[in-house]
Amino acid sequence: MLVINTIMALRQYLNNQTEIAFVPTMGNLHDGHIKLVNLAKQNSTCVVVSIFVNPLQFGANEDLNSYPRTLEADCEKLKAAGTDVVFAPNIAEIYPNINVITLDFGQTMTIDTPAIANELCGAVRPGHFNGVATIVLKLFNIVQPSIAIFGKKDFQQLFIIRELVKQFNLSIRIMAADTMREPDGLAMSSRNGYLSASERKGANMLHNTLSQTVENLHKSGLKQITQFEQVATQHLIAAGWQVDYVSIRAVNTLLPAESGDKQVVVLGAARLGKTRLIDNIELILT
Ligand code: PAJ
Repeated sequence: MLVINTIMALRQYLNNQTEIAFVPTMGNLHDGHIKLVNLAKQNSTCVVVSIFVNPLQFGANEDLNSYPRTLEADCEKLKAAGTDVVFAPNIAEIYPNINVITLDFGQTMTIDTPAIANELCGAVRPGHFNGVATIVLKLFNIVQPSIAIFGKKDFQQLFIIRELVKQFNLSIRIMAADTMREPDGLAMSSRNGYLSASERKGANMLHNTLSQTVENLHKSGLKQITQFEQVATQHLIAAGWQVDYVSIRAVNTLLPAESGDKQVVVLGAARLGKTRLIDNIELILT
């Protein structure tokens, strides 16, 4: 496995590779990330994983500085999973106009995201998906993969990446991997490490609450959507969570679900102490 830091060296190495599968990450890898690598391996002859904590997608009061950086351990996991190349650039490699003194990234051209990017996570993280779409397009241009793999855990991100590929006519097949969970149901996340021991014990409540909402939908259909969202929200608030949203949406549009929709997803984002967790569960209504 090669660890490459510069775009030039990466391009040189990838020059004669025809079937590249690409897994973009921000590092601090867990089994959820490795599942994406496994999927990449099954579908190509050359697996490239990027590790880059992208400042452009973090808000001013978010966890950019404390975001865990564990390159050595990440590389060990990626090597064991059969990764061919790890691309771990520094910030100036990705943002060539950066002013290293003021830390202005100089990325004056960015992707203008669709309206859906201002809802759900985008409503509480303004500009987040603009930063995500911009870095992902940059990485796609650098790696030029034929396949790219994303996790369903970040359901809205996956939706926006699919739009990016469609609207910019990119010749990249997007594959989605199911969410990997801890034995108690908590979705694996690099941010789970922020939880205190007692918070960790209760952290699967987000998943349990979304599961309960799914059960309610199976029983009653899409007639009481707002009520189910409110019940779930209140349930979490009563247990000490600060809820950003619980929302029942149509899978194909990510717009609020309406009666008649068959493929639906229940999404939730909430904070436990200082840790913001997100999760979602898809369901098919008959
Ligand atoms: P990061 O949070 O590191 O996630 C990298 C990829 O792993 C994403 O596609 C994410 O959906 C997936 N992933 C995370 N947790 C998962 C889990 N429990 N099960 C399955 N897949 C999981 O998402 C990002 O980085 C960034 O926004 C990025 C796309 C790299 C752009 O900077």
